[in-house]
Amino acid sequence: MSHTVPPLKDPSLFIEKCYVNGEWVTAQSGKTFEVHDPATGKLIGTCPEFDAADTQKAIDAAVAAFPKFRTTLARERARMLRRWYQLVVDNADDLATLITWENGKPLADARGEVNYAASFFEWFSEEAPRVYGDTIPATVAGNRVLTLKEPVGVVGLITPWNFPAAMITRKIGPALAAGCTVVAKSPGETPFTANALAELARRAGIPKGVVNIVTAAKNTPEVGEVITTHPEIRKISFTGSTGVGKLLMKQASSTVKKVSWELGGNAPFIVFDDVEDLDAAVAGAIASKFRSSGQTCVCANRIYVQKGIYDEFAKRFAEKVRAFKLGAGFGEGVTHGPVIHSRAIEKVNEHVRDAESKGAKVVVGGNKVPSLGPNFFELTVLTGMTKDMKIASEETFGPVAGLFPFETEEEVVQLANRAEVGLAAYFYSSNVKRIFRVAEALEVGMVGVNTGIISDPASPFGGVKQSGFGREGSKYGIDEYLVVKSVTIGGINPIISRL
Ligand code: SIN
Repeated sequence: MSHTVPPLKDPSLFIEKCYVNGEWVTAQSGKTFEVHDPATGKLIGTCPEFDAADTQKAIDAAVAAFPKFRTTLARERARMLRRWYQLVVDNADDLATLITWENGKPLADARGEVNYAASFFEWFSEEAPRVYGDTIPATVAGNRVLTLKEPVGVVGLITPWNFPAAMITRKIGPALAAGCTVVAKSPGETPFTANALAELARRAGIPKGVVNIVTAAKNTPEVGEVITTHPEIRKISFTGSTGVGKLLMKQASSTVKKVSWELGGNAPFIVFDDVEDLDAAVAGAIASKFRSSGQTCVCANRIYVQKGIYDEFAKRFAEKVRAFKLGAGFGEGVTHGPVIHSRAIEKVNEHVRDAESKGAKVVVGGNKVPSLGPNFFELTVLTGMTKDMKIASEETFGPVAGLFPFETEEEVVQLANRAEVGLAAYFYSSNVKRIFRVAEALEVGMVGVNTGIISDPASPFGGVKQSGFGREGSKYGIDEYLVVKSVTIGGINPIISRL
């Protein structure tokens, strides 16, 4: 199956290099890796296969840029981010085209991602000038204690392919707002969106060395190791799987770096039978489950529906899913695209086959669609799910909705909390006491109540348990890039006078 990729309005945003010290460079070995369109398997282009020595140069550039950048006025950094934000908005069509091309998500979704990505620059341009310290009453006579919030230093950022723009802006925005300089490793599957963003950073006047983007595919472990162990890098922010997060955390411990980890999820989505608007619950579950074809860390992975409404919910849910159109992201009327690569499609297939073999019923989809392309899997709905099935305990990261029946609130909260990870959870209920009770009982970092979409630059994003720690976005996101320095001034004797 082929499709037509619309030409970029500004072809100079398609860049097959790395961005180091304000320049577009190749790997010193001359090696490159190929990037393929997940919808067709066709070659999009190549990017430099950086190695440890290339990465060292990017780190050197960020180290050299840091002393000056950390002393720029916060207001000036805010203006830089604002200019970058505006350029992202102005070039949204091209960025969306790049996202769809290399990630596969439909163009409308890609447009949504560009807005989401830009919103982090806007948000943190507003946070930059509002980093306040404190004056703290001392417990020692004659002392005064104050705090300064300072940039942590050079930061290493490692980002995933599922949001080629938004995951990188959610990290670079607060880093620059805080006064840090950056070495970002973009994902091997989707490097071109990150490169276009870097080019826009250049045009926004971000000084050289402040933002550096490195690319690698086969050499990713080597590049990751340099970034996570380098003594001059003071903080790592990583979004990706729990398994890789554990490895990187071990590496980062060698130089005791500050770290924030946004790792895997396995979100429960609960529908209680007191829900007033069942259609709204169906729509919420669909939005949460099938966003980006199920390839977000906060996608519903286990949909629990209370017994009394289970059959009706399943019927309405399946009807909606049947109405979707699967296809290449640029195709007319396409609502859902392919998954990213063959490993992803094999995992999705394995989860469906496992559930089926243990008694689940496939009511919609259930199969690969090779006639559409190499990475297409039908949007799938499974009923009669039970807790011994893989989907109950493993993140599918694909377009498969498993509907689990449950009887009581206590039972479903226990089922929801069985997961080792705890990123997001959702539930629908119209009972205000239950809303508080359940929101407080769920062991996750983010809860959506009567909504299936929680992503918002204003809201703290992050998990608990093996989903990691640290928060992105929101008023807390910048703290991950700051350190608190206390300054104690002694020998201050009060003036005691009578007026
Ligand atoms: C993720 O999948 O890691 C991020 C999803 C989001 O920000 O909504």
